[in-house]
Amino acid sequence: MSEGDESAALTELAKRRGFFFGSSEAYGGVGGFYTYGPQGAALKSNVEEAWRERFAVQEGNLEIEAPTIMPEPVFEASGHLDGFDDMLVECAECGESHRADHLIEDNSELEDAETLSPEEAAEKIADLGLVCPTCGADLAGRSVEDFNLMFETNIGPGSSTPGYLRPETAQGIFVEFPRIKEYARNSLPFGVTQVGRAYRNEISPRKSIVRTREFTQAELEHFIDPERDEADLSAVEDVSVLLYPATEQEADDGDYVETTIGEAVEDGIIGNAWLGYFLGIAQEWYETVGVDMDRFRFRQHLAGERAHYSSDCWDAESEVDGDWIEIAGFSYRSDYDLSKHGEYGDDDFTVFQQYDEPKTVERAVVDPDMATLGPEFGAQAADVAEALETLAERDPDAFDADEVNLDVDGEQITVDADVANFSVETQTEAGEHITPHVVEPSFGIDRTVYTLLAHAYETDEVDGEARSYLSLSPAVAPTNVGVFPLVSNVDELVDLADDVAAELRAAGFAVVYDDSGSIGRRYRRQDEVGTPFCITIDRDGLEGDGADTVTIRERDSGKQVRLSVDDLVGTLVGLRAGTASFDDVLDDNEVVEA
Ligand code: GAP
Repeated sequence: MSEGDESAALTELAKRRGFFFGSSEAYGGVGGFYTYGPQGAALKSNVEEAWRERFAVQEGNLEIEAPTIMPEPVFEASGHLDGFDDMLVECAECGESHRADHLIEDNSELEDAETLSPEEAAEKIADLGLVCPTCGADLAGRSVEDFNLMFETNIGPGSSTPGYLRPETAQGIFVEFPRIKEYARNSLPFGVTQVGRAYRNEISPRKSIVRTREFTQAELEHFIDPERDEADLSAVEDVSVLLYPATEQEADDGDYVETTIGEAVEDGIIGNAWLGYFLGIAQEWYETVGVDMDRFRFRQHLAGERAHYSSDCWDAESEVDGDWIEIAGFSYRSDYDLSKHGEYGDDDFTVFQQYDEPKTVERAVVDPDMATLGPEFGAQAADVAEALETLAERDPDAFDADEVNLDVDGEQITVDADVANFSVETQTEAGEHITPHVVEPSFGIDRTVYTLLAHAYETDEVDGEARSYLSLSPAVAPTNVGVFPLVSNVDELVDLADDVAAELRAAGFAVVYDDSGSIGRRYRRQDEVGTPFCITIDRDGLEGDGADTVTIRERDSGKQVRLSVDDLVGTLVGLRAGTASFDDVLDDNEVVEA
C-alpha cells in the first residue's frame, strides 16, 4: 500500500467493524478521545492480558492499581508541574493551536525538533515560512510557548485542593513505594507493574488512537541497587535487534546497527544491562503478539529529547505508512523519582540494604549541650542542634576550630565548638539505607493495538473476489473461533453446532456463532475482524465415518481439515498459545478441499 493508505483503510475498517471510533460524536465529537467498540475492546484487553502475563506474572513482579487523580504536591515533586511541557504556537488569524515541533518536523528534514528551545522553534518556523495548517495564515513572528500537558482539577468542593489527572501511571507506583517495599520484604531488586489510564492534554491529537488525550499505559518500574544488582542477560543475549543509537542518528552517514542484545551491551551500544534485558524481552513479546519485526526498531533518545527524569532512553518504534511511531519507552530513571518524593513527601523512600559482612566504621558524632543552646537560642535551639549534627556528618574538620559556623535556615550562626561535644566513635554497621534506582519499560497499549491492526491488515483474492482480512495473532485476536452450522433447518446439525459453541465458550474461547448467509460470506465477515479459525458443522459430521466431526479453517491460508469434536478444545488451546501451528494440524488430520 502507498503512504497514507494504510491508516486510511485502518480507520475506515476500525469504525465499520467496531474496533474504535471518535467518542461523543452525537455531541459533535471531541478531539483526542476514542471509544473502543466490541472488537477493539476485546483486542485491547487481550493485549493487556498478554502484557500482564509476560511482564508481571512471568517476571514475578507485583501489580498494583492506583488512582488516576493525584494531589498537586505529587506533581511538584515529580517535576511534571514545571517540566512536562510541549511547544505551542497559536495562529493569530483563526486561533488554532499547533504543536510547534511537529509543524517543523512535518515541513523539513529535521527529525528531532523536540530538542529545540521555544525561541529556536519560533525562528525555525519563520525561516521555513510555515503557515497555519488550518487556515493558511503566516506563522512567522508568532511566539512559541511552553504548554503544560496535565489536566487540572479540584479535589472536593472549592479550589483549595488542586489535583491532576496522572500523565503517566508511574507516579502511582513511586508515591506508594514506602508501602510496596514492605510487600517486597525490602529486598531489591523487585518490579511493580500497573496497567491503566493516563491523561495528557495534547496540543494536537493525531492519527486516531496514536496520539490521544486519554490512553492506556502498561508500565513496569523495576527497582534496583545500582551497586549490587546486575541484570542476568542469559535469557536474552541472543535476541537479534535492530538498533538506531543516538550517535548514528547524529552522524552524517549514520545507519542502523543489527546486533544481538548480548553484543550491544558488551559493546556499550546499550549502556545499561538492565535496559538491554528489557529491550530483549520486549522484542520477543512484540513478536508474539503480532508486530511485524521487519517494521520494528529500537531508537535511542538524543540528549535534548529525554524526559526530565531520564538519563538514558530507548524507544520501541513501529513503522506505519512510512512513519515511525513510538510504541514504548525504556528509560533509566536513576533515583530521580524516589529521591524527589523522599524530599517532598513525609515517608521513607529508601531501602535498608544489609552488608554481606557488618562493617566497622568511624563516625563523627555530636551531643549538643542543650542547657547552653536553650537559653542562647530559645525556639531556634533545636534547629541549631540539628545543624551541628548535619555538619558533623558532612565536614568533621569544622569542629577542629574553637568556633563552629552554621547555616540555620539561611541565617549564619556561630557557636562555641565545646557545646557540640564532638567526638569520633567506632561503630559497627549492619547495612545502609539507599535510594533505589529505577529502570522503566513503559508501553503504550493503544499504539500497540494500532500497530497490530496496521501490520495485520492484508488484502488478497479468494474465488475471484477481493478479500481484506486481519492476520492477527491467535494470542490476541478479539474472537478466537467462528462456529457455523452449514444449514439452519436440520435439527441435529444445529444441536451439534450449539454444543460445539457451548463447549468452546466453557473452555474460555471467545466464540461468534453465525448461521446467516452463505458460508463464504460468513468466512469473509470473520476474516475482516481477524478471527483466526472458523468451524463449520456439516452433514458429514452427523453420521457414518465422519460422525462427531467438524471442519476447521485457518483464516490466512483458507486451508481446512476435518477434526473430531473431542479434539477441538485441545487443538485450539495449542493454536492460541502458539505451541502448535496450523501446519501441524494439517499434518495430523484429513485435509478438506476448500
Ligand atoms: N512513564 C514514562 C512515560 O510515560 P512516555 O514515553 O511519555 O513515557 C510511554 O509514554 C508510552 O505511552 C509511549 O511510548 C506511548 O506508547 C504512550 N503514549 C504517550 N503519549 C501518548 C498519547 N498522547 N496517546 C497515546 N499513547 C501515548
